[in-house]
Amino acid sequence: MAKPRHVLIGGGSGFIGQALTDALRRRGDKVTWVSRSAGENRLTWDALEKDGLPDCDVVVNFAGQHILNLSRRWNDAYRDDVINSRIKTTQIIVKAINDKAAPPATFISTAGKCFYGTKELTAGEAPEELDEYSEPIGMDFPAELVSQWEAAAEGVDTSRVRHIKLRIGVVLGAIERKSYITKPWRIGKSRGFLPIIRLPFCLGAGATIGKGTQIFPWVHIDDMVGVILHVMDNPETEGRYNAVAPNAVTNEVFTRSFSKHLKRPVLWSIPEWVIKFIVGEERSSILLKGQLVKPRRTIESGYVFKYPEIDGAMADLVKITF
Ligand SMILES: NC(=O)c1ccc[n+]([C@@H]2O[C@H](COP(=O)([O-])OP(=O)(O)OC[C@H]3O[C@@H](n4cnc5c(N)ncnc54)[C@H](OP(=O)(O)O)[C@@H]3O)[C@@H](O)[C@H]2O)c1
Repeated sequence: MAKPRHVLIGGGSGFIGQALTDALRRRGDKVTWVSRSAGENRLTWDALEKDGLPDCDVVVNFAGQHILNLSRRWNDAYRDDVINSRIKTTQIIVKAINDKAAPPATFISTAGKCFYGTKELTAGEAPEELDEYSEPIGMDFPAELVSQWEAAAEGVDTSRVRHIKLRIGVVLGAIERKSYITKPWRIGKSRGFLPIIRLPFCLGAGATIGKGTQIFPWVHIDDMVGVILHVMDNPETEGRYNAVAPNAVTNEVFTRSFSKHLKRPVLWSIPEWVIKFIVGEERSSILLKGQLVKPRRTIESGYVFKYPEIDGAMADLVKITF
């Protein structure tokens, strides 16, 4: 059996970080989170800057202000928070790794599939397949953000540390429906994208987003964790890997699969201007435009997706418990 490792996770308290932590602890690894708040098995960012990196085998960074927090108004302060929280935490981690006499063997930096940017397709034009070797097809705010975020991670000393760069699709976590009306707050306790869109569906007003033809690169949370463990455990892996399911679908196919498993109808389509009004022009491309991202290197490296198809993923994630 492999020797238990000590894994340090920036932003480990988040949706993906917690799922990874559970998987690592289940197999006997030790996990410490780097967080804004102190606590058991946590290290604050200030302590990391001041005292340096503790002895560890792997460092993963997920830290960053959520980009689609709909309870917060999209303004300059929020925008700066989204950018700085990712770049600053990455810089702190990179410096701590580089300053360490015996650095960890592996650094896993994360970013989003938005790296590839978006472009308007003309009628009948097929979307271009994008993999880890592809360059961005167009620049928008999310693509700019990801490229700055990735650049901050590039400073790590790769002569001493194996650097894995993950580009993550929209991560889908489990959602449970206990009741339609009496306990709406119990509908989908989990985090991830599904709870964001669940409420209109549960109220019987499910909708596609905009034209519905935009490609939606998604990944089941089990595969998200699976890809991370795969690259962590496989010393031959290095460089970029897309953490997206092999079969991205359009928003319409995604929505129909979600509604089928939730047993609620799709009644309408939310017009683009409403999305732009709610999330702001800059962030709207996340929902209104898409990219056909493929996990080419991830599959070539030997990772086998547990949930390659949206319907299988939804059947697992949308649990009807009443
Ligand atoms: N979930 C997705 O679908 C998805 C898709 C593509 C990319 N990603 C990226 O993957 C990363 C992890 O995703 P996630 O869904 O696990 O995110 P999440 O649930 O929002 O968690 C991110 C963690 O980052 C820390 N954080 C939040 N705001 C911060 C700030 N202003 N400064 C420093 N740290 C801050 C928090 O930890 P503390 O409160 O402990 O400090 C939080 O638990 C994110 O950076 C996200 O952009 C996620």
